[in-house]
Amino acid sequence: ARGLHLSRPVVLVGMMGCGKSAIGNALAARLGVPFRDTDEALTAAARMTIAEIFARDGEAFFRARESEVLARLLAEGPGVVSTGGGAFLRAENRALIAELGVSVWLKADAELLWSRVKQRTTRPLLMTDDPKATLMELLEARTPSYREADLVAEASPDLPIPQMVDRVITA
Ligand code: S3P
Repeated sequence: ARGLHLSRPVVLVGMMGCGKSAIGNALAARLGVPFRDTDEALTAAARMTIAEIFARDGEAFFRARESEVLARLLAEGPGVVSTGGGAFLRAENRALIAELGVSVWLKADAELLWSRVKQRTTRPLLMTDDPKATLMELLEARTPSYREADLVAEASPDLPIPQMVDRVITA
């Protein structure tokens, strides 16, 4: 990454479990720029977990706060921004990201995503009778939006994070 100079934020988008936070952190460290995470910024400001926000105020409220947080993080200048899996679905968020940053879709297949998220039951959207089926439905419904990202980096099972960072930088 030496010599790679960021003039805009790099925004990681993609499904729950694709590795946005882990890869985003490592990418930011590699590039020597700040790492920012919409879920983290949102829960820090709200002093509640995402599950609590969904339960108390509903998803629409969460999405409105998420858009505000995204705008704030993008305005902070060059850095790596990791987004919640639903952030790139809103046209207004995509437009803002296109204007101020460069988006990278961390593309991962259904099995890889499921293997990563099945351990953790904290995601409100997956608190259904059949979380795997729900994840598959979300993947299918969301893929057309993720395709609108500027760049794609493909995640593969067992690929170590530094190699995933290489893929993002190559993209
Ligand atoms: C969501 C993904 C979560 C979090 C919230 C909603 C989604 O973030 O923002 O639970 O709609 O896919 P991660 O993608 O970091 O799990």
